Amino acid sequence: MKNLFSMEHLTNEEILHILDRARAFENGEQSKLARSYNVANLFFEPSTRTKTSFEMAERLVGCTVIPFDADFSSAIKGETMYDTVKTLEMIGLDAVIIRAEEDEFYNELLEGINCAVINAGDGAGQHPSQSLLDLYTIQKEFGTFENLNITIVGDISHSRVAKSNATALTKLGANVRFLCPEEWAGQFEAHHSWDGLIQDSDVIMLLRVQHERHTGNKKFSKRSYHEQYGLTAEREAQMKEGAIIMHPAPVNRDVEIADHLVECERSRIFQQVRNGVYTRMAILETILEERE
Ligand code: NCD
Repeated sequence: MKNLFSMEHLTNEEILHILDRARAFENGEQSKLARSYNVANLFFEPSTRTKTSFEMAERLVGCTVIPFDADFSSAIKGETMYDTVKTLEMIGLDAVIIRAEEDEFYNELLEGINCAVINAGDGAGQHPSQSLLDLYTIQKEFGTFENLNITIVGDISHSRVAKSNATALTKLGANVRFLCPEEWAGQFEAHHSWDGLIQDSDVIMLLRVQHERHTGNKKFSKRSYHEQYGLTAEREAQMKEGAIIMHPAPVNRDVEIADHLVECERSRIFQQVRNGVYTRMAILETILEERE
């Protein structure tokens, strides 16, 4: 694996290898990398978890993290993504982790770039490192993906997390269902009510409404969204034994999920964040190993 752009490009073997290495890191194993690599995190969209956990993972596998501040970079002066990445490569960067607002920004980097590129979220496209940490969380819980019922709820068409997870989970044998308002189904066939979806779900994965990717000014009511699509106490009470709640976060409490459920027994929301560090260590090791 030279780069990580999309879950669509990964085979099941590659996915399972990364999950195995994440588990090894969680169990205290050290990175197999023979030397230190120079990496930078180029975040052109807001981020708390993804950026910080990549940075933590980079340090834990022995990388040198070169600071990059997107808001004060030459991108503001009109430099293309290609020129920015090529410049960092010439300075000596081995890998760049990029989050950007354009879908498939990485297409610009397919030719002429030799440093590794990891997609940390492209617009409403893909978010492969989030998907891998979600897969790791599910695998830790159930040991397998086959025949699990996974219900993904929320702003499906604008969510890169939904798309990456739908691709990967389906490939791994899970049964993925979507629940969302009609206008957010996009290319997916979706349910528009919770009826019949709660009791047999092994995982209920909630998504934040992606207001920043919406066009037009249709009014959004937090309260009516919560009533129709939110995970309320009443709905949680109908979930089966052993079923879990996930959310990539940031969470809008009392919108996607009732405030008090965020840290309830079934919730894996904060564990997902922790698992993200191990998974990103595994991603970095797998990609940087190719350069040895
Ligand atoms: C997600 C993202 O950026 O796509 N967050 C994350 O990386 N954990 C989800 C979101 O912003 O809603």
